[in-house]
Amino acid sequence: MRQKIVAGNWKMNKTYEEALQLASALLSTFEQHDTPLPKIILCPPFPYLADMVNLTKNNSRFSVGAQNCSEHQWGAYTGEVSAPMLKSIGVKYVILGHSERRQYFGEEGPLLAQKVDAALANNLTPIFCCGESLIVREDNKQNDLVKSQVEEALFHLPAEGIKKIVIAYEPVWAIGTGKTATAQQAQEMHAVIRKHIAGRYGKETAESISVLYGGSVNAANAKELFACADVDGGLVGGASLKPNEFVEIIRAGSN
Ligand code: PGA
Repeated sequence: MRQKIVAGNWKMNKTYEEALQLASALLSTFEQHDTPLPKIILCPPFPYLADMVNLTKNNSRFSVGAQNCSEHQWGAYTGEVSAPMLKSIGVKYVILGHSERRQYFGEEGPLLAQKVDAALANNLTPIFCCGESLIVREDNKQNDLVKSQVEEALFHLPAEGIKKIVIAYEPVWAIGTGKTATAQQAQEMHAVIRKHIAGRYGKETAESISVLYGGSVNAANAKELFACADVDGGLVGGASLKPNEFVEIIRAGSN
């Protein structure tokens, strides 16, 4: 059965102290809670990862993810952080192909395929992001675009490889804009993604992959989005920085 997941993408926010406070608030809320909850993944900036791993290590509900990694393993790549480094400090997930990486850092298909390989080779689970811009949606080309993003970065993998991926559908027009996809729009695209994977790898493989929705998820809309048949939780930006709101979103992902 595929896993329900709520991941917080903190992006380039929070001082070290603030990051520790946010994580501590979440840990104390969910520590003794015994109702079913989704997997909670915290994705802070690189400098805080090691301490986040330490802080969360006794609470199996929580895992830690990075927001990016290099396609290279080691070497003369000043300023880069590699998958083996992340693995060596206990990080379990890595966001790849986020629209901000695509837009501001020119990351596209072939490079993302290499990053996916680097992550998997180091037992990191990629949270692979895909999603269309507003222009593409207005043109009604969103399905083709998202299918090609998935294809370019993931379809070189064998079935055992793609089974290890978490996909996040994040329409670019919904990220940080307060404009969320409707539950119907999210469900439609998630079904398109799953069907595309089923066409290449078979239904059983497609059914085993968690597909998260991202883009202005908040405490008010999370329940409806997460209730969709093909939506397995969320990748949350802005609202994951506010402990009370993120707690509500996590609760919306339980069932
Ligand atoms: P947002 O960001 O929730 O602030 O829209 C989501 C994301 O970029 O992952």
